[in-house]
Amino acid sequence: MSDTRKPRAPRRPYIAGNWKMHLTLDEAVRLADELKRRVGRIRSVDMAVVPSFPFIASVAERLRGERIAVGAQDIHPAPSGAYTGGVSGPPLRSAGATFVLVGHSERRHVFGESDGLCAEKVHAGLDHGLDVVLCVGEKLTERQSQMTFEVVERQLRTGLEGVGAAAMAHVTIAYEPVWAIGTGLTATPAQAQEVHRFIREWLGDRYDAALAAATRIQYGGSVKPDNVAGLLDGPDVDGGLVGGASLDAGGFAAIITAAAETVSRGDF
Ligand code: PGA
Repeated sequence: MSDTRKPRAPRRPYIAGNWKMHLTLDEAVRLADELKRRVGRIRSVDMAVVPSFPFIASVAERLRGERIAVGAQDIHPAPSGAYTGGVSGPPLRSAGATFVLVGHSERRHVFGESDGLCAEKVHAGLDHGLDVVLCVGEKLTERQSQMTFEVVERQLRTGLEGVGAAAMAHVTIAYEPVWAIGTGLTATPAQAQEVHRFIREWLGDRYDAALAAATRIQYGGSVKPDNVAGLLDGPDVDGGLVGGASLDAGGFAAIITAAAETVSRGDF
């Protein structure tokens, strides 16, 4: 494969907090207010939070005009219809979401979502004007049997099937090794960089070098204030998708601040 890495100046770090199925409405709004206070002025990092569905509108309202975007954790592939419990693109947008996570490992492995369903969701998000964070990553057994690249390649190929180059401006990839999610085990910076580089090279082959250089690839899996700078050292690591540590305003703000410091040091 060709080396598609470029100086990464054009890619701003992107840190998103996935709140998963945590918090009550009051807690979610309080966390949003607290983040606004702590990191609202940071300009060098793109920031986002991903609350559960019932809080999207209130959190988006609190963050209106701020630099902290609000996303959804899932999307139904259909635009509307008789799908009790499903939430589709138009209501998400109308509630203030600007992006959606697709293929998070908990959706894939707890809810049993296939690569094909993830692809439908990618298209649903893009068709309804939502940016997409497509999550990919191998399970522990897959890593142990040297299948990491194979799994990630399959998830990318299937998940981005039919997604043209223009639409890719609205797609972020999140590499989240399943064994590192919520376990306290973090991929080492070298392990993360190796897969991020593979993803960027894959994007270069599938699309072109410029697109690969411009696409942001977040790392997810036990990102914490004390390991984020090391992870961001990887030239292909452009940010983080943070679970547990994003539920604490101080911790999440520290992660964002550490990312901003890598930019001001010129390391990013
Ligand atoms: P974690 O979750 O930071 O709690 O490991 C990451 C994620 O699921 O996106």
